[in-house]
Amino acid sequence: MPPPSSPELFPGIDLVENARMASALERGGEAFLRRAFTEAEVAYCRSHRDPVPRFAARFAAKEAVAKAFGTGLGEAAAFREIEVVHDARGAPHVQLHGQAAATAAAQGITAFRLSLTHTQHYAAAMVLAQRGPA
Ligand SMILES: CC(C)(COP(=O)(O)OP(=O)(O)OC[C@H]1O[C@@H](n2cnc3c(N)ncnc32)[C@H](O)[C@@H]1OP(=O)(O)O)[C@@H](O)C(=O)NCCC(=O)NCCS
Repeated sequence: MPPPSSPELFPGIDLVENARMASALERGGEAFLRRAFTEAEVAYCRSHRDPVPRFAARFAAKEAVAKAFGTGLGEAAAFREIEVVHDARGAPHVQLHGQAAATAAAQGITAFRLSLTHTQHYAAAMVLAQRGPA
């Protein structure tokens, strides 16, 4: 697909119930944790008094990226390949690895924007994937 001459934005959004994330963490244990999150994400979430909303927000971010791809997860990307990292001000960013990075490159995606929020009961993420010139 040729890159567009002006930027095109593709949105993705997801909402996760913290209680469902808590039970996934409990039922799935370390295996679920290691399949869904990178070591740095696990360390970040566990550095907070209540890690669950942080895990839920990152899970939402991965699903939101999958929606922005338009493909969902599976062949296009694995959960762990979509990583949430932070800049010096604490703002979250998307970092892709492996097949997820290849999917983004094949779609001509040049940048992502990510925002997270969480409350006691819910966590949400919204993503914009940008195609074309930055
Ligand atoms: C950043 C801020 C907007 C977060 O809003 P909030 O209502 O407290 O919390 P929310 O649940 O909506 O959002 C939390 C998420 O905001 C994101 N965030 C943090 N800093 C950010 C920044 N500078 N820019 C964009 N997003 C940011 C993070 O992803 C965080 O979630 P995470 O810790 O799981 O990664 C708010 O704390 C703020 O305005 N801070 C100003 C700077 C400040 O005072 N920092 C604290 C120094 S002690």
